[in-house]
Amino acid sequence: MSLIFHGKNTMAAQLYKTESGRLFHAGKIAIITVGLPARGKTHISRSLCRYLRWLGVPTKVFSVGNYRRKAMGTAGKLPQNFFDFENQEAAQSRRKIAKECLKDMISWLEAGGQVGIFDASNTTEERRKEMYNTLISEDIHPVFIESMCDKQDIIEANIRSVKITSPDYIGWDREAAVKDYWKRINNHLGHYQTIVDTSLSFVKMINAGERIIVNNVKGYLQSRIVFYLMNLHISPRIIYFAQTGETLNEKVQKADAELSPDGIRYANNLKNFLLNLREKEKKQRIEEGWGDEDERTLTIWTSARRRSYQTAKPFEDEGYIIEQRTSMAELNLGVVDGLTIDEIKARFPEEYERQQQDLYHHRYPRAEVIC
Ligand code: SIN
Repeated sequence: MSLIFHGKNTMAAQLYKTESGRLFHAGKIAIITVGLPARGKTHISRSLCRYLRWLGVPTKVFSVGNYRRKAMGTAGKLPQNFFDFENQEAAQSRRKIAKECLKDMISWLEAGGQVGIFDASNTTEERRKEMYNTLISEDIHPVFIESMCDKQDIIEANIRSVKITSPDYIGWDREAAVKDYWKRINNHLGHYQTIVDTSLSFVKMINAGERIIVNNVKGYLQSRIVFYLMNLHISPRIIYFAQTGETLNEKVQKADAELSPDGIRYANNLKNFLLNLREKEKKQRIEEGWGDEDERTLTIWTSARRRSYQTAKPFEDEGYIIEQRTSMAELNLGVVDGLTIDEIKARFPEEYERQQQDLYHHRYPRAEVIC
């Protein structure tokens, strides 16, 4: 569990873009998830999508589960044994839905997308080969992400915390939903083929980050994806973000000013609020029968700026460890540091216009980025 203090202008360094909207050299990439149900594929897909978008890469998740819900309905409305591989009629429906989803992903990539994430189980070699051939013929590079897990406790926790709260099981009895989901997993078991073709680009994530295997992954963007996956947690955790307190000089960032009396009051209130909240959450976990083993130590990250450290100081006084990280420093505002919006408009009208056109990527002279 972490508490992160941020200033007003904290952001990732943006990757450069070309006219097409895609990153130069990287081409179109299709991420294809592989794995039995409840192995964290949807979590991986969504997190990776958020990360890549944050970097400015046009990315979208195409979830076969969502297409299936739209076409056939939620779990309770599906025909008996819909996920049974022996049920030919159901297999045909599943295939048709998956193809529809893939077609939409390809169209989206053709229209300027850079990374399409195809979230489905894709458990057979035959299915993956077919997708591979389709994608290559469209000049899209497939990268497979296989999530494997043989630890029953991780799988059970995933079903209980994520799966039974999915749109499939709205209104279901909790235990009936868990049982239905295990049935779905068991339907896939005898048909699951792990990736063995080493000519493919793939990443295998084993037991929620215990081990990771990377094969035939090339280029900057693909390497960046692997880097993210290596740092991805599959088990849930809570991160609190908090604004830093007001300082004695709010106008000029370079001043690195001390907290004002209001800023100090805010820091103390924040500490009281958060520690109370954690107590309440712990009590709730115990009441719901989760025990208190979920409680992790609170770690606190601040930048090395005065306002950031001083806002966290009340936590340190209570015995919590504060880690200061220079990478968390507020971004440099360059020539507009200390200016009001009206002053910026008057002194840098063209730059101000450019900024309004592209808030995400624009930088003022000598600045890092402003949003
Ligand atoms: C679903 O229909 O919920 C998932 C389909 C798949 O994972 O292939």
